[in-house]
Amino acid sequence: MEIYPPDFVAYFVMHENDSYYEAAYKISRHNQFHIVLVVDDYGKLVGIITKNELRGYPKTAGEACNRKFPFIYKQQDRYAIAAKMFAEDIFDDIPIVDDDMHPVDILSRFQVFIRHATFGNYVACDRPHYAKLVGAAVWEAKNKGYDSISVIEFGVAGGAGLRLMEFYAIEFERLYGVKVDVYGFDSGEGLFEPIGYRNAPQSWSTGWFQFDIDKVQRTLRRAKLVVGDICQTSKSFLTDDIAPIGAIAVDVDTYDPTVAILDMLLGADKYFLPLVYMYFDDIMADLEFQCETLAIKDFNAKQNLMKISPEGWNLSPHGCWTSSSALTDNPYICSDDSEEMKLMKTLVRFNHSRISLK
Ligand SMILES: C[S@@+](CC[C@H](N)C(=O)[O-])C[C@H]1O[C@@H](n2cnc3c(N)ncnc32)[C@H](O)[C@@H]1O
Repeated sequence: MEIYPPDFVAYFVMHENDSYYEAAYKISRHNQFHIVLVVDDYGKLVGIITKNELRGYPKTAGEACNRKFPFIYKQQDRYAIAAKMFAEDIFDDIPIVDDDMHPVDILSRFQVFIRHATFGNYVACDRPHYAKLVGAAVWEAKNKGYDSISVIEFGVAGGAGLRLMEFYAIEFERLYGVKVDVYGFDSGEGLFEPIGYRNAPQSWSTGWFQFDIDKVQRTLRRAKLVVGDICQTSKSFLTDDIAPIGAIAVDVDTYDPTVAILDMLLGADKYFLPLVYMYFDDIMADLEFQCETLAIKDFNAKQNLMKISPEGWNLSPHGCWTSSSALTDNPYICSDDSEEMKLMKTLVRFNHSRISLK
């Protein structure tokens, strides 16, 4: 099992002499931050490129960049200062620098927004169901007395979902003081051959969603990639080094890896929060008796001490969440109209030792 270290800010940093076209590519490709930080020979920030600078035909990042840009020193109250800057509506991403003008972080308009997010606001978020997964897990952790948790995405591909999960993890950690570790499981090889009706060969093909692990890792800030076949890596993941798991997004399409993921849930209570918030991406009407839905049904049929609920697809968002009294004041359990909300579920461990603690 290989776990990669993250390297976040470096992805957005380019030298003045680097190609403008590469900068344009980075800005359009990343789904959280749309900025390139242009530095000189000493690594000092001299300009930024945002979508506003993506015009004309400059050759280098240095020629294209805006040299009159806003920035915040890392020791300053970044949220308060950024809120004012964003209110003036000029930029969507602001660089955070150290005393020598070296870029150390980036703050986006959305980060400032979500810090103040309350009931019902998630519709404005990118993949609101990912915000809810992480928000609900952090809230559950706080209620039950945990100081750190893990959240996981199974099936990472280009990393669009994992980057968002990581982003919400960082923001909810800042908001509530519960540390959130993020893991993404994938082989990088794309879908394995879908053998047998359970894996729905009518819907999936071998090799779909293949990606370059190293490239994706470079776009991550803290998430760790657990690389390999999920049917294997899920077996050795639960150790005392891993904070208890509070949220899981399953996006592996087929039956076999979903079964492996659900088998992992049978591990000891100490590895999980009493409620684990879950999202299944591939619960579809035509796959009700195959793939992820079938794996959930098989799991529930075998287990008496824990269940994934609701079992079916296409229930109303309200119906998708437990009505546990411990959670009634949870602002992260709320409804909105997105289809994905209907694919959210909860694993309830009936006899979990912390179930009665507040
Ligand atoms: C639909 S893609 C994931 C998309 C991603 N969640 C997103 O939001 O962009 C499915 C991913 O599951 C991975 N996958 C499927 N079966 C797997 C297995 N047995 N082991 C490891 N990865 C697997 C594939 O490599 C692929 O990257």
